[in-house]
Amino acid sequence: MATPQTNPSRHVLLTGGSSGIGLEAARQLLRAGHQLTLLCRDAAAADRLRAELGAAVATPICDLADLESVVACAAELQGRGQPIDTLVLNAGLQYSGAKAPRWSAQGFELTVAVNHLAHQALLQRLLGLLAAGSASRLVITASEVHDPSSSGGKVGQPAGLGTLAGLKQGPGAAMLDGSAFNAEKAYKDSKLCNLLMAREAARRLQEAGLALPVLAWSPGLVIPRREGGFFRYSRVHNPAGQALFALVARDLLQLTESPQRAGALLAGLATTTPEQPQAFEYWSNRVLGPGRRRFERTEPSAEARSDGLARQLWELSAQHVCPAGAEPGDSPAAPH
Ligand SMILES: NC(=O)c1ccc[n+]([C@@H]2O[C@H](COP(=O)([O-])OP(=O)(O)OC[C@H]3O[C@@H](n4cnc5c(N)ncnc54)[C@H](OP(=O)(O)O)[C@@H]3O)[C@@H](O)[C@H]2O)c1
Repeated sequence: MATPQTNPSRHVLLTGGSSGIGLEAARQLLRAGHQLTLLCRDAAAADRLRAELGAAVATPICDLADLESVVACAAELQGRGQPIDTLVLNAGLQYSGAKAPRWSAQGFELTVAVNHLAHQALLQRLLGLLAAGSASRLVITASEVHDPSSSGGKVGQPAGLGTLAGLKQGPGAAMLDGSAFNAEKAYKDSKLCNLLMAREAARRLQEAGLALPVLAWSPGLVIPRREGGFFRYSRVHNPAGQALFALVARDLLQLTESPQRAGALLAGLATTTPEQPQAFEYWSNRVLGPGRRRFERTEPSAEARSDGLARQLWELSAQHVCPAGAEPGDSPAAPH
């Protein structure tokens, strides 16, 4: 991607920096001399990260499954007042195969609560600090499965937000479109939300005169060899199926990306200056064949390109995560 020119030391704030792609990116960013703030689910994760990466890494607690924790973390960061050069919204989970929904502390379906709502809550509250950063940018980890025409996106029920009936209902709705619970679709929908939120954030930033690049990206399929990682919750529901899937996709067909390389792609997006930065870009790590991939700028799905849906999703989500008057510390210029 872009030019090899890398910004000197940047302050990078990541969600999802305690495992998988985010942890690999954090390791590489640290080695390159950048300053990191890694939001951690709990004190155990924070202790583990500081033990590995060193005490210079800031590890505030932020449980993305609890909006109160997100609000408290954002307030702590605002109180600290350190500008953010790159905000990376990367945390995510999936629990494929589950028959029943899991719920966030406020009663939202967990996949959408963590992958989308908590990130919009953070974004709205941290825009002021991001606007104060140097050559600021926003990076959001999405997935190709948001697109029903992609190879992963066409397996099972496709992503689709309908009229957002579930989001309008709020807590207790199992799916954003108001349909019956389907764990795989909930994940695809949450990744569609990532793209729509990225596009709407870029539009609002431009409107507010804050032209900073918003970079959404898809890492490709990343199945680590060790226990844990992204498929840990799905494995609980279908251990044999997940083992077979890993064997075929990773070891036989070689369709997967390594965590190290995916982390390098994320670290690059967080720190490398695009040659001709656009307000919004979507980068995808496309499979070309066994063991061959190309990281390239591309178009998100047709639904992800809907301006009206992006605006409606932002506004409805904001009503749940940022009720009027609950955005302390945003710069006056930051869009709401
Ligand atoms: N792996 C893939 O094949 C793949 C493909 C496409 C897109 N993606 C996307 O890539 C991103 C990173 O995934 P990954 O593969 O690196 O998965 P991972 O190893 O499971 O990492 C997920 C990260 O999200 C954090 N997280 C989850 N729930 C949280 C919560 N309630 N509060 C705070 N943090 C929470 C995890 O924290 P803990 O360490 O505390 O659990 C972890 O740091 C996700 O957005 C995912 O959707 C992954």
